[in-house]
Amino acid sequence: MILLGIETSCDETAAAVVENTTVRANILFTHTAHAQFGGVVPEIASREHLRLLPGLVRQALDESGVSWEQLDGIAFTRGPGLAGPLLVGASFARALALESGLPLYGVNHLEGHLAAVRLSYPDLTPPFLCLTVSGGHTELTLLNEAGEFVPVGETRDDAAGEAFDKCGKLMGLGYPAGPILSRIAETGNRKAFAFPKGLRLEEGFDFSFSGLKSAVSREVSRLGPEQTQVQLADLCASVESAIVDALVDKTIKAAQHVGTSTIAVCGGVSANRFLREQLTQRAKTLGMTVVFPALALCTDNAAMIAGAAIWALEQGKAAKLIPEVDPRLALVG
Ligand code: KG4
Ligand code: ZN
Repeated sequence: MILLGIETSCDETAAAVVENTTVRANILFTHTAHAQFGGVVPEIASREHLRLLPGLVRQALDESGVSWEQLDGIAFTRGPGLAGPLLVGASFARALALESGLPLYGVNHLEGHLAAVRLSYPDLTPPFLCLTVSGGHTELTLLNEAGEFVPVGETRDDAAGEAFDKCGKLMGLGYPAGPILSRIAETGNRKAFAFPKGLRLEEGFDFSFSGLKSAVSREVSRLGPEQTQVQLADLCASVESAIVDALVDKTIKAAQHVGTSTIAVCGGVSANRFLREQLTQRAKTLGMTVVFPALALCTDNAAMIAGAAIWALEQGKAAKLIPEVDPRLALVG
């Protein structure tokens, strides 16, 4: 089965062609127009998607060597995400489907992130525990043998990616701050600042990152702009440690609780090197396995959207691929 995938939920315009679990082309453009605003402006994102989609879809098809006649359908992101950008992607996909006569599949962006793991590990079969860590979500979910998502834990406030971005912004880093902060953290002392680690030691499997943001804000005010720059690497390393330690502890505890020894991590923050190292190490000592998507598939892309539709179709779950936009769509519905 060969699908064209389209992703427009936020500030990446992406098109891809996927054949079963093989990525034939994965084209992506991250909007630069938002940088001056320090965050994503939905109206600008909508216009950028509209401007970029025709060229990116053409490029994905050219690179894949797949013709319109060889395609079996078109998959697009139906939610969650920004309403305007989602509507642009959906309308564009619908127009292509009408013109080509191909079936149209609406994909849950969060299932897309998980499908990125499957594209990297085609033999991975449920049950396993999923840690979804992106700019908008931080969730622990069990994917059971029937392919159903069972909620285990979630963040009570900020998402992990949001915590990276907000703390980075307080230190004057660009947007998105996650990858920048992580790079700077490599030369810092992770114990220099004792930042709160959310609900790390509490019962249950929920996360909380808003306390960290407040603590970083206080520390940056106390230090002042000059000292913040002098101690930037230590600040970044301590923030990264606080986020990663909370994620690792809760994920391991949740895996033990649900009785699985396989953990799949997905979403933009799954690209984080320190999280990859720490979780892999801890799991190994307990005889557990952790899998992460290939780096190119961690942050938003369209291959994961096509991959999720193919996965659902293979499982006979075409009914859930509703071609309607839902900006507030949840992983478990
Ligand atoms: O999944 P994604 O591309 O978009 C959403 O669906 O939200 O995730 C983007 C998030 C941003 O918050 C970004 O800062 C974070 O993922 N991120 C990282 C890294 N790469 C991306 N955070 C920490 N370390 C990274 N290497
Ligand atoms: Zn995402």
